[in-house]
Amino acid sequence: MKRLITVITSLTAGIYSLPLLASETLMPQPQQWQPIQEIAVQGDIPELRGMPLQPEFPAPLAQVNQGYLETLAPATWWADLLTYSFFGMFFVLALFVLINGKAKLTQGFSGHKVNRWSGMDILFHWIGAIACLLLIVTGLAMIAGRFWLEPNMGAERWIGFIGSSVAIHNLMAFPFILGWLVMVVKWANKQLPEACDLGWFKALGGYLNFGSFKGKHPDAGFANAGEKLWFWCFALFGALMIGSGVVLMFPSLVATKDGANLALILHLVSAFVLGAFTVVHIYMATVISEGGMECMLTGKCDENWAKQHHNLWFQKLPKSK
Ligand code: HEM
Repeated sequence: MKRLITVITSLTAGIYSLPLLASETLMPQPQQWQPIQEIAVQGDIPELRGMPLQPEFPAPLAQVNQGYLETLAPATWWADLLTYSFFGMFFVLALFVLINGKAKLTQGFSGHKVNRWSGMDILFHWIGAIACLLLIVTGLAMIAGRFWLEPNMGAERWIGFIGSSVAIHNLMAFPFILGWLVMVVKWANKQLPEACDLGWFKALGGYLNFGSFKGKHPDAGFANAGEKLWFWCFALFGALMIGSGVVLMFPSLVATKDGANLALILHLVSAFVLGAFTVVHIYMATVISEGGMECMLTGKCDENWAKQHHNLWFQKLPKSK
């Protein structure tokens, strides 16, 4: 039993030791992996753990949850899924903009500004957002890099690259947690469901420029239904991402292989949802919704943008004139 716990601890600690994996191509198996090799950790997920690829699993250990192992086993599948969901979404939305065009302000810019976000909101949004983007990029390098990049890199360059990716990934977890916590706690009351949300979805947000959808501007309060969906996905999957990430960083917290494997599954699923949705969010803010980006740069928005996209919120604002 003691031996098993030692093995589990050293194995799970290896999740964040990807540079070691790179060294396989350069030098013999690193010392700390030797015991794992000797007892051939049965039914484990070598590809994701940074261990040498094994084409077949040995007979499974009874105490290891087979469902978790089978879920994690196709490492190339996970790598492809996460890579395609992130980059594929850029492609899909580029196509959407090409066919549909942007959501222009029908009245143009009025030049009058309305307060929307405070300096604190902007600060913590960007702390969380920049950390999140770096986590996505380095996370993709960690899961998919060995299939997509390593074969085209020299061993030494790969070691440096993956080592930096792991270090950045671990470091960025902290600003991400801070940004997530502040955004979720501070903004939750602005993102509660409202009666108009269903109508917003029915009109597809008013972003389609053809057919009966053209020119529709569905009702919305401070946040529209699409933003609320993003916010609550961010809150829920961000929590799963953080909880599972903490377990992966400090595996002794769970001390069982099942716990670590479950954490890894939750981490990958959250990465899939947040990665794809982040791309949608960035597209909406920067490309699709004309006038949207200035909200998170200056904290203010144009009056016509507020009227078109958040009419119910705008109506309730105290009028300056
Ligand atoms: C280049 C990347 C990003 C840009 C340009 C961007 C831009 C924006 C803008 C303009 C808003 C305000 C929308 C409004 O006032 O209605 C916003 C809100 C928000 N952002 Fe970002 N963002 C980026 C990345 C991220 C990331 C990575 C996260 C997650 C960590 C995030 C989380 C949020 C949340 C939760 C909101 C509030 C809900 C909403 O209004 O959509 N953002 N962002």
